[in-house]
Amino acid sequence: MSTVVESKTFGKDYHGFEPFKLTDPFDSYKALREEAPVMWDDRINMFVVTRYEDVKAVFEDWESFSSKDAQSPIRPLCAEAKKIMADGGFTAYSGLSARIPPEHTRIRAVATKAFTPRRYKVLEPLIRQNADDLIDAMVAKGTDSADILPDLAYDLPTLTIFELIGVPHDMIDLVKEWATSRATLTWADLSDDEQLPHARNMVNYWNFCQKLVSDAKVTPGDNLVTDLVNLQTAGDEISDHEIASFLYSLLFAGHETTTTLISNAVRQLMINQDAWQAIKADPSKIPGAVEEVLRSAGSIFAWRRTAMKDSVINGVDIPEGSQILLVMGSANRDPQMFENPDKFDIERENARNHLSFGFGIHYCIGNMLGKLQTRVALEELSKKLPGLKLKEGVNIEFGDNLSFRVPLTVPVTW
Ligand code: HEM
Repeated sequence: MSTVVESKTFGKDYHGFEPFKLTDPFDSYKALREEAPVMWDDRINMFVVTRYEDVKAVFEDWESFSSKDAQSPIRPLCAEAKKIMADGGFTAYSGLSARIPPEHTRIRAVATKAFTPRRYKVLEPLIRQNADDLIDAMVAKGTDSADILPDLAYDLPTLTIFELIGVPHDMIDLVKEWATSRATLTWADLSDDEQLPHARNMVNYWNFCQKLVSDAKVTPGDNLVTDLVNLQTAGDEISDHEIASFLYSLLFAGHETTTTLISNAVRQLMINQDAWQAIKADPSKIPGAVEEVLRSAGSIFAWRRTAMKDSVINGVDIPEGSQILLVMGSANRDPQMFENPDKFDIERENARNHLSFGFGIHYCIGNMLGKLQTRVALEELSKKLPGLKLKEGVNIEFGDNLSFRVPLTVPVTW
């Protein structure tokens, strides 16, 4: 056992691992990698996998380890929440991430045709303009201080995904509320009563996604929904329900994760002021910095798989049907893969080997868009507010969640 581990008063059985506590899980990850790299956790009924090569191997072997339950609520829905959703006509299913081949292969092929680099490139000037406007609004408050999360990171990716899909901009707060409900209902540790308002939000969210599809059939636009509808008309095999489900995914995955990435990027660069100075002097270092943020402080720290047959991971028997938690937040700090893993190093040559976008057939379809927006946000921030630093004396906490590591606040001054 390492000295770091011994200095903590860890629970005996779980090596300090607390599945829903994400503020500072790194010592417990280290202990798990060293002492129990594949650990059964009876609090969440999952095998917890923490070493890089094991996490990657499980992601890669989609036939043995399926993503079919990756979006199932971590705490089963209560009868009343189920009724609210059934009465409201909620039939949404994961757009892609919890679908399996051959269905996944078919839908991903159509989605990839619509989700082209050309669509991102067109968006870059708009992203830059929105970043500029949001930073100017921060400065115009006249307080020389802001919270990056609500003041920049919240709106920027949401406006981008709205433009991509063709959603009116005045719906930001509503869509963010639905997205938060989705993350909470699926990945948080909720009581029955706490589930109900989120269940109501899911009904409204799903009905909205279905309406986007039916509206695009009547009034086509220059957006992704119309592209998907056109592909369907031209003979690609994708149903209206599948397009609406894909939108249901994008209106969540397409901004929540990037809001978090931008927030974490600013936080990491403020804590590591030498890196901040380096990107100001040479903005061509920003893409490397974004990869290092993804490696060391990614938006998603853990993702689920289900064993489709009796299997073995790193010598541990995994019975068919078992749930597996792949802890990317730990894999990305595995010293077997990343030298001096706790150091934030924007020049790290293999930073992009991180697993923060998953790996294999479900590899994040929006990875380029997420990175593009974070790069633009950092370019504009470092140009406009070169003296940016974290507010003194603030200890940034992260919300309780099994998967999504979201800072509660990123207060800055300049
Ligand atoms: C910027 C930060 C982002 C992070 C950290 C992230 C992370 C992830 C992860 C971990 C997965 C699951 C991979 C797996 O199961 O193997 C995933 C899948 C996915 N992501 Fe992202 N994502 C980000 C941004 C985005 C954006 C901007 C979009 C869309 C505009 C997006 C859309 C999707 C979709 C549709 C999938 C499912 C792909 C499939 O199953 O084939 N993501 N992402």
